[in-house]
Amino acid sequence: MNFRTIGIVGAGTMGRGIAQVCIQRGFDVALNDVDAKALEKAAAAIEKQLARAVEKGRISAEDQAAAMSRLRLAPSLEDLAEVDLCIEAATENPDLKLDLFRALEGVCSKEAIIASNTSSISLTRIAGVCTLPERVIGMHFFNPVPVMELVELIRALQTSDATFDAVSAFSERLGKSVVSVKDSPGFVVNRMLVPLINEAVFVLAEGLAEAEEIDKAMRLGANHPIGPLALADLVGLDVCLYVLDVLYREFSDSKYRACPLLRKMVDAGRLGRKSGRGFFEYA
Ligand code: 3HC
Repeated sequence: MNFRTIGIVGAGTMGRGIAQVCIQRGFDVALNDVDAKALEKAAAAIEKQLARAVEKGRISAEDQAAAMSRLRLAPSLEDLAEVDLCIEAATENPDLKLDLFRALEGVCSKEAIIASNTSSISLTRIAGVCTLPERVIGMHFFNPVPVMELVELIRALQTSDATFDAVSAFSERLGKSVVSVKDSPGFVVNRMLVPLINEAVFVLAEGLAEAEEIDKAMRLGANHPIGPLALADLVGLDVCLYVLDVLYREFSDSKYRACPLLRKMVDAGRLGRKSGRGFFEYA
């Protein structure tokens, strides 16, 4: 199946990153969000990223203009009626996602594939509320989307081979590498990465070292590009806590117990980069 137009639901960090990569790779994008202001903000952020790429000599001004011309803001779900592939990147809330999938099935054509960028919700559960569950798949991108090479492709129990093959070929056309994963809490990356972040928060809470020192240790001692606390700030502390709570609940295993400090930080609204303060402060 050859996709031309991609619908993206959710104009937050992930949705706008996915939109940027799609328009840069020649796909038409309809970007949807319930919040019109979020849509305007996303378009401005994408334009800024592309302008930076022009400044660095990575793309030409013509490429930038052509990419921006492929981006259409779609304030209503009905604006996604014509898309070949719809990627849902809305807030990580199961009820909201299930409702969205029910609504998307009513809007998109029967031939369209519907993917979710969920980081932790069961794809089998999402596909279970759909009348055509074989066209549902997980497409898990990583933050920042334009930089990170991986896409985890998660098959629901119901996902057809045709859906998987089409989305796999599409991911490669985006310049991404694919890892095929069975549906299981946290998939592969978050199953390992988020407990690592949690352990770093325990190390901080126990006073073993300051935040800067913990991150320095992992950068210089394990060659991680950034330390686990800075990574938590990048991902969002609320997202980390949410993934941990899903792992804890779904596996009923205390090894996934969230550090109380992480929960306190979230309660205090210190969510990381997006709120200006997490384990570190941001201008
Ligand atoms: N959008 C586009 N490009 C970006 C970017 C963004 N948001 N942030 C950084 N970049 C680009 C920069 O422009 C720069 O490009 P250049 O080399 O062409 O100039 C390049 O990335 C390097 O950036 P910096 O020099 O500013 O900073 P770093 O050297 O620290 O690199 C990083 C930034 C690539 C993000 C690096 O810190 C890194 O790899 N961090 C780890 C990221 C990671 O692990 N992400 C996965 C999170 S888990 C997840 O997303 C799953 C979810 O479900 C929780």
